[in-house]
Amino acid sequence: MNDTLTIALPKGRLAEQTLDILASSGYANEVEADSRQLIYTDTVNRITYLFVKPVDVVTYVKEGVCDLGVAGKDTIAEEDADIYELFDLGIGACYFAVAGPADLDFRSLATLRIATKYPKVATDYFQSSAQDLQIIKLNGSVELAPLIGLSDVIVDIVETGSTLRANNLAVLERMQPITARIIANKASYRRHYDAINQLIDRLNRRDTND
Ligand code: PRP
Repeated sequence: MNDTLTIALPKGRLAEQTLDILASSGYANEVEADSRQLIYTDTVNRITYLFVKPVDVVTYVKEGVCDLGVAGKDTIAEEDADIYELFDLGIGACYFAVAGPADLDFRSLATLRIATKYPKVATDYFQSSAQDLQIIKLNGSVELAPLIGLSDVIVDIVETGSTLRANNLAVLERMQPITARIIANKASYRRHYDAINQLIDRLNRRDTND
């Protein structure tokens, strides 16, 4: 039986931070997260790491080509996939917010136009609102939308707030907090039950020792 775990890591700072956390949890590795190499096998700990675009981590895990993945709660919420969420790594902290011009009373608009990379998250958040919603899906630079009249507000992630400030926008409502989580494919979780639980145990012990 192949008992190597395959883990999808989000390319960039989150992958580097995750590898550091794994190293200090007993999974020493010499993976260079910032190289152009997209796949790396750690034969000692029997883990294969795949470096993927952050928004694609859930897809790799959902499709079962990766047993585990590290995904932000933002993409997990937007994808709404049938996967397990096993562990909160506590990294990549930010939050969802409704943002727009500071003086906009957006709750009083009969029709609310929302530009966002997260149409499901936005729709869910406003589901009990009596307002008509118009969701405009964008893939980035969403802060532009209220500035040029494409939308009234945006629903987006806020980390430092500097992008909003630079564009003269403000947080109008704070939504849910976001951190990176370890997620698992459901069939993989059964197949690799011992190895996955050992990994989560070690992460938990590391947490309490910090
Ligand atoms: C994200 C997000 C905001 C910004 C928030 O965009 O969509 O624009 O970061 O971070 P801040 O609060 O620290 O300014 P990203 O950098 O991913 O670029 P994008 O606009 O291309 O999606």
